[in-house]
Amino acid sequence: MHSPPRILIVYAHPSHGTSRVNRRLREHVQDLPHVRVHDLYEMYPDFHIDVPHEQQALEQSDLIVLQHPVYWYSMPSLLKEWIDLVFEHGWAYGHEGHALRGKDLLLVATTGGAASAYQPDGYHRRPFDAFLPPYEQTAHLCGMRWLPPLIVHGTRRASDEEMAPQLNSYRERLSTYPAWSTQVQTAADRDPIMPQLQPGNPNDA
Ligand SMILES: Cc1cc2nc3c(=O)[nH]c(=O)nc-3n(C[C@H](O)[C@H](O)[C@H](O)COP(=O)(O)O)c2cc1C
Repeated sequence: MHSPPRILIVYAHPSHGTSRVNRRLREHVQDLPHVRVHDLYEMYPDFHIDVPHEQQALEQSDLIVLQHPVYWYSMPSLLKEWIDLVFEHGWAYGHEGHALRGKDLLLVATTGGAASAYQPDGYHRRPFDAFLPPYEQTAHLCGMRWLPPLIVHGTRRASDEEMAPQLNSYRERLSTYPAWSTQVQTAADRDPIMPQLQPGNPNDA
């Protein structure tokens, strides 16, 4: 790990102008040294992503933060396009694709639905974790460590006071990285996959 750690926030909000919660979250951390923000909707309003530029920024980062409002139980479309294009075979995954290996991935996401709505008997029918496997497996396939996500629920009603602990938690996590992250035991640490199934194995897809 380089010292000091380098953090890239990949920020994707289709209407940042009307954002309340993501705006505050971002404003709470973007002044930290060694934090760089790529605002995808500002950089690529026409969806023409500069792939080499993005890959270079990722190569220069230790912690990659994906920050976005949850849209249809997933990420906004430009972030999906960014992953589709930037996480290339032979660069991010596959036999020769090791560029992201050993990096950390942190999801910071906000939902309109309250935490209580993300329950088996709630409006969204499932705990929010049930929507995360595609993120976690993407991290895993690329050899990144999937850190515990920071999810802010109930954004429509949350007052500034109610949001304060999460704003502070975001800043705390970025300002004290990597100290806390090395203490985290990820699912992959607890349940390592067999060597022949490791990303980059010649038998992989
Ligand atoms: C197109 C669209 C889809 C959305 N889908 C969801 C969803 O699946 N689950 C949810 O809890 N909220 C959903 N929301 C609400 C947003 O997540 C919420 O407005 C956002 O987190 C608020 O953050 P902001 O203040 O930064 O804009 C959706 C909003 C839009 C516009």
